[in-house]
Amino acid sequence: MENREKEILIIKETKKLEGTVQISGAKNSALPNIAATILTDKPVILENIPELLDVRYMCTLLKEIGSSITQIDEKSWVFSLKEPSSLEAKYDIVSKMRASILVLGPMVARFGEAKVALPGGCPIGQRPIDMHIKALEKMGIKIEKEHGFIVAKGKPKGAHIVFDRVTVTGTENIIMAAVLAEGETVIENAALEPEVVDLTVLLKKMGADITWNWKGKSRTIKIRGVKKLNGAKHKIIPDRIEAGTFAILSALTDSSIIIKDYPENFLTYVNWIMRKMGIFIVKIGKNEVVVKKDKNLKPAFIETKEYPFFPTDLQAQFMTLLSVVDGLSIIKENIFENRFLHVPELNRLGANIKVQNNKVAIIDGVKKLTGAEVKATDLRASAAMVLAGVIAEGKTIIHDIYHLDRGYEKIDHKLKSIGVDVERKKVKQMLVKEV
Ligand code: EPU
Repeated sequence: MENREKEILIIKETKKLEGTVQISGAKNSALPNIAATILTDKPVILENIPELLDVRYMCTLLKEIGSSITQIDEKSWVFSLKEPSSLEAKYDIVSKMRASILVLGPMVARFGEAKVALPGGCPIGQRPIDMHIKALEKMGIKIEKEHGFIVAKGKPKGAHIVFDRVTVTGTENIIMAAVLAEGETVIENAALEPEVVDLTVLLKKMGADITWNWKGKSRTIKIRGVKKLNGAKHKIIPDRIEAGTFAILSALTDSSIIIKDYPENFLTYVNWIMRKMGIFIVKIGKNEVVVKKDKNLKPAFIETKEYPFFPTDLQAQFMTLLSVVDGLSIIKENIFENRFLHVPELNRLGANIKVQNNKVAIIDGVKKLTGAEVKATDLRASAAMVLAGVIAEGKTIIHDIYHLDRGYEKIDHKLKSIGVDVERKKVKQMLVKEV
């Protein structure tokens, strides 16, 4: 038997919350924006970078490639990659964070060469990267898979890419490959997520030539390659998923916490779903909102779908909310094939949720949840457990909270500041060796 330390979160039921919560910079915007700094030998300043485990992994990866990274203030960093010291993204980081694949596009674009470890498994689904590879091959890059690595060679050339399905990091990788490519690239069926748009805003500041066309059903991006990109200064957009999570927390506890930097424009569809349930986002200042709710909320039908529709990254948190809304609610997960890992954990807390074919969850609202020990099975499932812990009677202990630290900046501090009774504790973990 071996002893190791791990962290748990202990949350006690907290009835009413008050105070202000500041929404951090978006993880899924910070990651591609940091990768984009590879594209130039000039310094790029990124502001509003959230302090997250995934951001640290991405910075470690860039340092291994040869980037110098200097902190200017709490949230701003300068990235500069004059000469690469290595063109390899090693397995130890890639296996921890799938978004490491985002260095592939910029590395081939600038250096004509890259070696990136294959990401491997993921709890929420298989998450292949076949569409990234197919598109790069269409741009003339020679790609081999050897010894667990993708080895890419060649400078990208403009091409007409049609993605079979919408892929967020796939779109970002190809945009970054195309900005320095010879000729014009057209990406059809591109992802329109605000984080993808934010990446193009940075790239345009660096001198890239990018135009969007998302009229009607069209999801097309046109990129004319340029010879060189410059440095720039850019502020990362607020995290719509963190904002949505705090809005749900406010509704669950019927509290008027002030949510600062709530990106209302990125949450139009989510806000519409909330309104239909009887939850209202009320603007009280520039980018400041509070949440108001009807006495009795209505159940909902939610289907996850690419932006501008309902984000899969808020599905688990909404499930916690619906688990205590009287009546039958349905959630259909269309993006990932295994993203109901939080269901057995919510049921441990007293929810009544049944899953059909790993695709549809039927939620029969209960009066209350009761505290218990639960596992955080992935990042957003962890957030669902936190929300449940706040309203569950008694004490909830959440294990494996490292998932939470990957995507929620200083979550326990933020929760404490609005009155949640939460404690992070180091405990010994007993590891029984297999015999
Ligand atoms: N897919 C393929 N082949 C590919 C690429 C994707 O089959 O080459 C499939 C995936 O398996 C999935 C679907 O297409 O079923 C969509 O995946 P997508 O590529 O859009 O996901 P991603 O780019 O890997 C990003 C976010 C995720 C978020 C998804 C969907 C980042 C760093 N990650 O992942 O964020 O859930 O888009 O919106 O941007 C999270 O923050 O918790 C998170 C998982």
